[in-house]
This record gives sequence, structure tokens and C-alpha cells, in this order.
Amino acid sequence: MLTLGIETSCDETAAALVEDGRGLLADVVSTQVDIHRRWGGVVPELASRNHVVQILPVIDEALERSRRTLAEVGLIAVTSGPGLVGALLVGLEVAKSLSMARKVPFVGVNHLEGHLMAARLAPEFPEPPFLGLVVSGGHTSLYEVKELGRYRLIGATRDDAAGEAYDKVAKILGLPYPGGQPIDELAQEGDPRAIRFPRALPERGVFEWSFSGLKTSVLNHVRAGGVPSGPALNDLCASFQEAVADSLTSKLITAARRLSIERVLICGGVAANSRLRSMAAQRGAEREVSVFIPPPRLCTDNGAMIAVAGYEAYRRGVRSDLSLTADAAWRL
Ligand code: KG4
Ligand code: ZN
Repeated sequence: MLTLGIETSCDETAAALVEDGRGLLADVVSTQVDIHRRWGGVVPELASRNHVVQILPVIDEALERSRRTLAEVGLIAVTSGPGLVGALLVGLEVAKSLSMARKVPFVGVNHLEGHLMAARLAPEFPEPPFLGLVVSGGHTSLYEVKELGRYRLIGATRDDAAGEAYDKVAKILGLPYPGGQPIDELAQEGDPRAIRFPRALPERGVFEWSFSGLKTSVLNHVRAGGVPSGPALNDLCASFQEAVADSLTSKLITAARRLSIERVLICGGVAANSRLRSMAAQRGAEREVSVFIPPPRLCTDNGAMIAVAGYEAYRRGVRSDLSLTADAAWRL
């Protein structure tokens, strides 16, 4: 079955075509970062307006690249939460309209479930049961995935999401929004042991995170010595990045051991991070936990992950109807 996946929950307008939940035919992502960058973060009204402009051309391009037509689409999957309500509504109304006009079913997908399902497009992906850590701009949440469609929240961040910490630290350092990639690049030239930043909630049985104290530590460091440049900036980025990766991976691997779950998945935009990827692989190997992380392109927001999650939900019997509305705070 050919599935069209549509994603407009934040600042990417994305559409993808996926065959039978596995074969990625086309994946088009139109990013709005240049629009939001001058404001230092996503401006919801600007995001909604830009989705309105981009959504149909993005869907057209995905169809064109996959050499398929709308008439061949058998299912439409669309993010209906969580996210910015005005942004979500753009994708959702387009999905409903296409579903009505073409008389094909549509399914509303939870964005976090989308991130967890993205790995199914990679050559190697975990079959349930596994632990799934979603680390993005809005979330740092650990789920036990008992089977597809059955998720149990184990723990989450008490304050900032990991991606949010990256974005806020980037702002403190005068780096562009979103901050993950620029910090990652500078960190690769720096010494991760240069500054010992704190790891919050170090207790071994606590599977929750906190990143606001780390952000404040960076701020205090900058207040004391000014915004660094050159090698000192690289060292600061590497030390911050080490603290985030350490905190995420140590709790994830400990949780897997504690719950006797052999496979873990890391997904969401922050899973594109080079140090998180290498540290998780190394610690997983040391403690006999198999670590899966999708390729970076599938970690950040895209339509393909929504198509896969929607297809799997549809196979389980999930259907949406025209009464479905956007749920900005939909919990998985
Ligand atoms: O999943 P995503 O694309 O959107 C949300 O659902 O939030 O995640 C975006 C977040 C941003 O905070 C961005 O700074 C972060 O992912 N990010 C990274 C990297 N690439 C993106 N964080 C760390 N290292 C990266 N390489
Ligand atoms: Zn996301």
C-alpha cells in the first residue's frame, strides 16, 4: 500500500511516499529555519503561514520524485499532535481534504510515535520489545515499546528537552538557531574534558532528566569569562555536548539493564548528534545492549516517519474520521 505521510507540527513542511511501511520512495522536507532564525526560535504564526504556502508544492514534489500519482495513494498519514496547533492544522486539513476528494482513508499520527517508527526505514531496526528514547526540540522521553502501538512512558525530562538545551546554549554562545548542528560541529574540534559540567539526577534508579541546570552552568561560565571564541569555544561546546550525551546514554543503558530489555532505540532530532551516537554505541557494546539509531536524515522531522507510523497503525485497525482535530499536547 502506498502511503503519503504529511508532517507540519513545527517548522518543517514535509511529505513522503512510503510503500508498505518499508520502502521509502521520496522524502521532501522544506525547512523554515531561515524564517525563524532571526527571532532565535520558532514563531508559531510565521510557521503556520509558511506551511500554508509550502504544503501543496511539497506534496507535489514528493509525488514527482517517487514517480507516482495521487490516484495511486492508498492511505494518508498526518501528524495531528503534539506540536503547534496552527501548524498542525495546516497538514491535518490538507490530509482530510485529500482523503475526501480521493476517497482514501487517513490516519492521524502522534509525532512522537513517528520518531519511534522512523527506524523501520533503516536497514536495521529493533523489533519490540525495546526501549525508545525520543530526544528532540520539544521532548526527552523514554518509552517501553511492548509492541507496535503499545507504549509505556518510563521517564522524561523534568524541565528542558535536550534539543531545547542545545538551542538555548547556542543562543548564549551567539550561534545560529537551531543550535544542535553548529554546537556538534564545533564540539568535534574541542576537548570534552576541558570543563566539567554537572550531570543532573545522577541516582542510578532515576530515569528522568533535567537540563536547565546544565544550561545555567554554561550561562554562568560565560558570565564569568565572556563568550569564548576559537579553541575555547570548541572546548566549551565539547564539554556541554559530553554532559548531554553522558546523561542521556547512562540512564538509557541502565534502564535497559534494569528492565531486562536487550534493544534500545534513540530517535528525534538530537539523535543526529555525533557524540551521542558514538557514546551510545560504545556503552551499549560494553553492557550488551543493542543500540539502534536511524541515519541522521530520519532523526530530524520528516514525512517518512509519519507515513510508517500511520501505515502500521492502519494495519492494527486504527482509522480517523473528519472529526479529528489537532491535539497540541497529545501524550503518547
Ligand atoms: O525532532 P526535531 O527535528 O524536531 C522536534 O520535534 O523538536 O528536533 C529538533 C531539535 C533541535 O533542538 C535541534 O537543535 C536538535 O534537534 N538537533 C541536534 C542536532 N541536530 C538537530 N542536537 C544535537 N546535535 C545535532 N547534530
Ligand atoms: Zn520531531
